[in-house]
Amino acid sequence: MKVEQLFTGCLAEMAYYIESNKEVAIIDPLRETEPYIEMAKADGATIKYIFLTHFHADFVSGQVDLANKTGATIVFGPTADPTYEIHRATDGEQFKLGNITLELLHTPGHTMESISLVLVDESGNKPYVFTGDCLFIGDVGRPDLAVSSAVSQDDLASHLFDSLRDKIMVLPDDIIIYPNHGAGSACGKNMSNETFDTLGNQKKTNYALRDDMTRAEFVREVLSGLKTPPQYFPNNVKMNKGINLSIDEIVTKGTTPLSPETFMEMSEQPEVLVIDTRSKEAYTAEGTVPGAWFIGIDGSFAPWVGALITNIGQKIIFIATEGREQEVVTRFSRVGYDNTVGFLKGGISQWIKAGYQVDKIASLSASEFAKKFKDESIEIVLDVRKETEYLSEHIIGATNFPLDFINENSGIINSNKDYYLHCKSGYRSLIAASIFKANGIKNVTDIRGGYQDIRNTGVALSDYVCPTTIL
Ligand SMILES: [Fe+2]
Repeated sequence: MKVEQLFTGCLAEMAYYIESNKEVAIIDPLRETEPYIEMAKADGATIKYIFLTHFHADFVSGQVDLANKTGATIVFGPTADPTYEIHRATDGEQFKLGNITLELLHTPGHTMESISLVLVDESGNKPYVFTGDCLFIGDVGRPDLAVSSAVSQDDLASHLFDSLRDKIMVLPDDIIIYPNHGAGSACGKNMSNETFDTLGNQKKTNYALRDDMTRAEFVREVLSGLKTPPQYFPNNVKMNKGINLSIDEIVTKGTTPLSPETFMEMSEQPEVLVIDTRSKEAYTAEGTVPGAWFIGIDGSFAPWVGALITNIGQKIIFIATEGREQEVVTRFSRVGYDNTVGFLKGGISQWIKAGYQVDKIASLSASEFAKKFKDESIEIVLDVRKETEYLSEHIIGATNFPLDFINENSGIINSNKDYYLHCKSGYRSLIAASIFKANGIKNVTDIRGGYQDIRNTGVALSDYVCPTTIL
């Protein structure tokens, strides 16, 4: 028997590969199919089942594509009703996989169709439970996303209370919990950096598993402090209930090389968005195509694409580090942005050679900023971190302008003013600065190194405000 946790940092997502006696089950696959097929091939095994613990909101899963390529059966929980063919399981149903069994538990709460899977090994022991978004390490799945006219967030939280207590907490204390998400995912609020733990440990440390907790306390605690979910979540749920383009078609179309002339023409079309996906160093040093947004591939790329590009069908052309074009297209499609139509062939150097202009973001170091700030020659400082980060400590006089809500708040930006932007380390502020520039705000300066560097310059900082006091 083999059990592998497949962690994708960008989405803080964990898929699972389980093999026994040449039969494989995949739990919660990402959009791309190749890695799973290759793993099974290396084991000389066949993918028999694809389990979806629920309809995901934060990424598009590739079950239909994977099932078409492998002949595997897609399995969902009792109330799931997608438009494609599935096996709709019943609570307690057993799935034989080689010499082991996967026992399905209906664990509604995060969503109504949510399931968990208990692995029963050759000896009848239960070493692992795959909990999806029912139970995380240090947290539980948020119950406010799958609200409908039939079920409120309080109802979902109440279901989650029962699922945890009646189905999960009764399992052996030494069972290993393998969740679908870790720290950094917007599917919970307080996840640990650990990607697995024993149930016994979680009973001691996870606030939601406190044994003397009443139902009312549980509902109140799991629903408090939840942030507005990213705007792309409902779109991804919808896509996960339907049939989507195969990853192969998306990659073929998206990796079309475009000459500087064609790229120029397309970049000027109002329906096309240009994204520069290179490293922030390359982007700032070499400049970019005028009007391009910066969303660097070496960061939380997919969640920022999903949070900031409001039209999921957006036609996108992009600039990439040479050799990473397929990765860029795949990572766009992980959150459902399937309409990439090509990249700048030869990169920025060919663009310049063709005689086109480049645009650069003005920047200064934290110490240069500090000097100007103390001289009062800086008009407006925008801190683009999250509200909780801002409240924990910030520059006195800085305005919180979270990148997450830049579209919603863009109306308050005055194109005649002079803005200095910072985040924690310089990734988010560059994204924000690039969007400002694309929207015609000319006087934008990025503070390199962000708050990490600024806090060592002697600029006056606010006292620490415990975020929990305002939740
Ligand atoms: Fe989820």
